[in-house]
Amino acid sequence: MEQLLQQIEELKQEIGAFAGTEADVAEQFRIKYLGTKGVIKGLMGEMKNIPNDQKKQFGQVMNDLKQLAEEKWESLKQAGGSGEQAGVDFDWTLPGTPVNAGGRHPISIVRNQIVSIFKRLGFAVAEGPEIEDDWHNFTALNMPENHTARDMQDTFYILQNPDWVLRTHTSSVQARVMEKQKPPIRIICPGRVYRNETISARAHCFFHQVEGLYIDEHVSFADLKQTLYFFVQEMFGKDVKIRFRPSYFPFTEPSAEMDISCTVCGGKGCSLCKHTGWVEILGCGMVHPKMLDNFGIDSNKYTGFAFGMGMERICQLKYRVNDLRLYSQNDVRFLDQFTGSV
Ligand code: DAH
Repeated sequence: MEQLLQQIEELKQEIGAFAGTEADVAEQFRIKYLGTKGVIKGLMGEMKNIPNDQKKQFGQVMNDLKQLAEEKWESLKQAGGSGEQAGVDFDWTLPGTPVNAGGRHPISIVRNQIVSIFKRLGFAVAEGPEIEDDWHNFTALNMPENHTARDMQDTFYILQNPDWVLRTHTSSVQARVMEKQKPPIRIICPGRVYRNETISARAHCFFHQVEGLYIDEHVSFADLKQTLYFFVQEMFGKDVKIRFRPSYFPFTEPSAEMDISCTVCGGKGCSLCKHTGWVEILGCGMVHPKMLDNFGIDSNKYTGFAFGMGMERICQLKYRVNDLRLYSQNDVRFLDQFTGSV
């Protein structure tokens, strides 16, 4: 009996000091001390060897031991899984370690919005290569060699092959779609384009455009206007107005540029709209019959409209970003401001 009591006393100390950091420490403890094959059950088995007049005392000591073990198990369970040392007091009210959420780049946000608006009008998304050949970037778009319109865009040429350029506009994808697909065609093409410009707040050597192309029977300039008006109202709100100014592009006839009423000053005049109340957002027009003929599309039967806009410009008007360089500097103080937008 003496020996048993001594053993129980040591066990109590062992239980009191039991600690661990693993998530399943409480379960390990239960199995070791309180389980059906555990230490305490084992000791209980000694009861039959205890003389009758000492059975009561032994029973009480065992009850105390069991209670102590159960309390310890309870406290291990509460601390368990926290990663803190189990069995040690832990302050659950402490704030957690902040986890920085990732966010979309403003250009991606704007691209997704543009794509979703045009998808609702039945436009599909088309893609083309950023390294383009002369035909798709220029010649097929009614800009043969030595055509002065080629000078409208400063082109990056690829040294290894004089026929290759970094595409200067997403209009090249128009050519790629027309050579593969027969009308009706209704596509938009978002993508990156390149121009040999000195980098400043207002110019960059790469930026992003969205091209639109719609070819079918009886497509008119009125369809172009209505489509773009719908887009502007969805993108910038119902109060925003549009206006068209005659312009020139080799691949459209007639051609126009479209302005919207300034989203910053509402048309009253400010530095963004250079006090005119209007800002240009895109070029557009009716697809030139020569373009259609280039791809074997009957220009007597089919007509179409096309447009091309800069995504950075749309982003500037939506989020008032006033320096083009911000888009590619990867400064998290800039990018963080868009976290949470979709
Ligand atoms: N490609 C022109 C540019 O980069 C934009 C453009 C103008 C696209 C008129 C078109 C269009 O499709 O019809 O400046």
